[in-house]
Amino acid sequence: MRTLRFVAALALATSGAWAAAACAPSGPAGRSLPAGRPLPELPLGASPLVPVPPDNPLTEAKVELGRRLFFDAQLSRDSTVSCSSCHEPERSFSDGRTVARGIDDKEGTRNVPALINRAYGRSFFWDGRAHSLEEQALLPMVNPDEMGNTHEEILRRLGASGSYRRQFVGAFGADEITEERVAQAIASFVRTLVSGNSPFDRFEHLGDTAALSESARRGLALFRGRARCALCHTGGLFTDERFHNTGVTWRDGELLDSGRFVITGKNAHRGAFKTPTLRDVARTGPYMHDGSLATLEEVVDFYDRGGNINPYQDPDIQPLDLTLQEKESLLAFLRSLSGEMRFGRAPLDRESAHK
Ligand code: HEC
Ligand code: HEC
Repeated sequence: MRTLRFVAALALATSGAWAAAACAPSGPAGRSLPAGRPLPELPLGASPLVPVPPDNPLTEAKVELGRRLFFDAQLSRDSTVSCSSCHEPERSFSDGRTVARGIDDKEGTRNVPALINRAYGRSFFWDGRAHSLEEQALLPMVNPDEMGNTHEEILRRLGASGSYRRQFVGAFGADEITEERVAQAIASFVRTLVSGNSPFDRFEHLGDTAALSESARRGLALFRGRARCALCHTGGLFTDERFHNTGVTWRDGELLDSGRFVITGKNAHRGAFKTPTLRDVARTGPYMHDGSLATLEEVVDFYDRGGNINPYQDPDIQPLDLTLQEKESLLAFLRSLSGEMRFGRAPLDRESAHK
């Protein structure tokens, strides 16, 4: 299997505060992972330009600390819920439920998104209200429907643990445990969750025609052509990172969730949600911000009929009039996006990753 490896150079300032770690392919022409660089081997299809904020460089110690925090239920008020309770590795870090369930079995209002390739994301949550993974990481801990804790209490618990204190020293060179450092460690871990090397990638990047069935190849052509999907699910991550009203939230003449509008106040954002990645999509149902579509078949039917028509609907959503065979092809293509999950340094155990 061909992989890409990260190299040390911090180069190419992209937008604003972001910088990108430049990478080169491994193999004969490639360079190896320099000592002290924590990044996993990137699977085929994952962009080698991984944005990392300049004030939180990725280090192995931070990723390891972040991994421990991500799986630690102590972060929740009653020590029953960890990040991984909702973001399960086997489901590409989603949870299989319609909407999230937090402490005391409280239900949220939104579906748990997959956490793969989020290092490349530009904004976070369905409505994009968090601007960085660092900013995002602190919010579930104090959300009363999720982990229901306070940051003070979390810092107290972590500070009471000798082994956490040692790990913070290892990661930050100082034993003071702060909110900012907790966020930086968790964000570093989340940045390493990458999926790639799917049948689609082997077809697209290695020219391996056998990797996709004929039906899936027809589906890919539809996806990029007449079915209009690639207008929004663009590029190698299958998302434009923008916000669109497809009509999912339109019921009985009203928008049940205003979506991005709450953040920007722009009419065009009424009922608009972030385009999700479609990588690993066969593992991440139910679908949409509210989990209202149970299967990929339902999703394809939804687009086929032109979504739910409403006054704020994106003009790129149009009735498609697909034949049964075309729908099957589109589904075969979507299923070909299931890849291999990388998780921290090591690839996630194949068995659990391919369930
Ligand atoms: C109770 C379930 C639950 C827990 C616990 C939880 N999350 Fe989430 N997570 C969600 C839901 C639901 C969303 C989407 C919420 C929204 O968009 O309004 C989300 C969104 C995210 C996103 C944004 C993904 C994207 O593509 O925009 C990240 C990153 C994330 N969570 C990481 C974490 C981390 C780190 C923790 C632990 C500190 C955590 N989550 C704990 C349910 C949960
Ligand atoms: C106008 C932009 C746009 C077009 C065109 C579009 N999508 Fe989407 N897609 C979105 C947005 C936005 C969402 C999230 C909507 C929501 O949750 O309310 C989404 C959600 C999805 C999901 C659910 C993923 C998940 O993790 O919940 C799938 C699957 C999907 N789209 C597939 C397709 C396919 C297949 C096509 C073509 C037939 C298509 N999309 C066309 C913008 C678009």
